[in-house]
Amino acid sequence: MKCTRCREKAVVALPSHTAGFCPPCYLLFVERQVQKAIKDKKLFSFDDRIIIALSGGKDSLALAWQLKKLGYDIAGLHIDLAIPQSSPIARDHVERFCRAYDINLSVLEMEKLGLSIPEVRKKIKRPVCSLCGKIKRYYFNKFALDNGFNVLATGHNLDDEVARLFSNVLSWESAHLGDQGPLLPEENGFTRKVKPLYRLSEFETANFCFIAEIDYGFAPCPYSGGASFTYYKTLFDELEHKQPGRKLSFYEGFLKRGRKAFTRLDLEEGVKPSPCKSCGYPTSEESCGVCRIKHMLEQS
Ligand code: AMP
Ligand code: FES
Ligand code: ZN
Repeated sequence: MKCTRCREKAVVALPSHTAGFCPPCYLLFVERQVQKAIKDKKLFSFDDRIIIALSGGKDSLALAWQLKKLGYDIAGLHIDLAIPQSSPIARDHVERFCRAYDINLSVLEMEKLGLSIPEVRKKIKRPVCSLCGKIKRYYFNKFALDNGFNVLATGHNLDDEVARLFSNVLSWESAHLGDQGPLLPEENGFTRKVKPLYRLSEFETANFCFIAEIDYGFAPCPYSGGASFTYYKTLFDELEHKQPGRKLSFYEGFLKRGRKAFTRLDLEEGVKPSPCKSCGYPTSEESCGVCRIKHMLEQS
């Protein structure tokens, strides 16, 4: 197969775009997908201060690499969850990556903040992944606001977004459908959140890391409870195989035509957040989720 752009030998075939690319043209393809996402969805500009949540996995490192290359004002934030089997490997990759590409990095250690995830798991009898997700989102937002960043970027890719959309559709989560998308504007004490990789699949970001020689960490979380998401991803991979381009058209179609129906519902049903009585973080209850977790840990 020849590269669609330059007719050299192609190394990556992309049936969803009826294209194939040689290594340099593939890097250009990814760059254009990211630029299209930023431009079409008005994610951010060169004047914004962007904090990128870096997990050490392929997606967030690919995102940082790309935004740095494009010249955006970026810095990295890693949350060290203190999970012995995976956190040191993840942190090591993030630290080495940021050193290699001269990206300012901050690391928040959950152990020091009394929120080590194994401890949370041991003491609170609730699904640890959702508690962990709550803690991460809290610190992403808090760190951004406390440090003058007006945009928080995560490495969520097309497969993550499609699996989440499908899960929300299966149970008709109207409020969640109302605010799913690559851009959540700043409001009610939450910083603007963006997902510039939403047009790229996992296969595409993995190939990107391979070609750009980005050394990412692969240490799956031992508590990984995302079984249903993993299953939805497999379903959509099968669909994509039979109907190339389906994932992206399903998701873009939702953003263009489906989401607005739920945005209205979301506004009607939504409760405007007010500051947490202990820490000031926006919440719809008296105390925010993280203060409640801390409280439960103290009680146990
Ligand atoms: P996941 O939910 O693990 O698929 O992660 C989705 C995105 O959240 C990643 O692409 C990162 O941008 C961010 N993220 C996840 N875990 C961490 C972490 N420990 N520290 C910083 N960012 C993270
Ligand atoms: Fe949070 Fe696994 S990464 S529980
Ligand atoms: Zn709080």
